[in-house]
Amino acid sequence: MERTFILLKPDCVQRRLMGDVIGRMESKGLNFIAMKMLQITPDLAKQHYAEHVEKGWYPTLEGFITGGPVMAAVLEGLDAIRVVREMLGATNGLQASPGTIRGDYSSSRQMNLVHGSDGPEAACREISLYFSDEELCSYEPTITPWMRAADE
Ligand code: CDP
Ligand code: MG
Repeated sequence: MERTFILLKPDCVQRRLMGDVIGRMESKGLNFIAMKMLQITPDLAKQHYAEHVEKGWYPTLEGFITGGPVMAAVLEGLDAIRVVREMLGATNGLQASPGTIRGDYSSSRQMNLVHGSDGPEAACREISLYFSDEELCSYEPTITPWMRAADE
């Protein structure tokens, strides 16, 4: 089992697409083990996007990500980090493949609806940036025997 962090960005909340995104991930077999709405502060934005703070486009990204409420969540599943990144698609919605979340709903390089951790280190760092250990509700769904074979 692997954990990953996702953030439904302000465009996702404003465009009423949270339900679609959550539904796709649940249908795939990923378990939501934590979820919260919040408004990101400039300080939290700089921590979350530490690798991009020096980029020329960072100020507009900070304005976007702090510009409305977001929903942060933790997902658990087999290969969850890679699976979620592939479900999101390429960063730029105009280049993301049809069938991916960004490919189906975004026509923007910045407003691409959902963030997903890009590796195990990032997942760990991002989960602890938004959630305490007590807020993670890991559980074994009773439907698991109908989602995959016992040896998978
Ligand atoms: O989110 P992802 O890992 O696919 O992309 P990134 O290259 O790590 O960039 C982080 C986020 O910054 C993107 O998801 C976009 O919302 C935003 N971005 C931007 O505003 N302008 C760019 N030229 C590149 C990314
Ligand atoms: Mg990234």
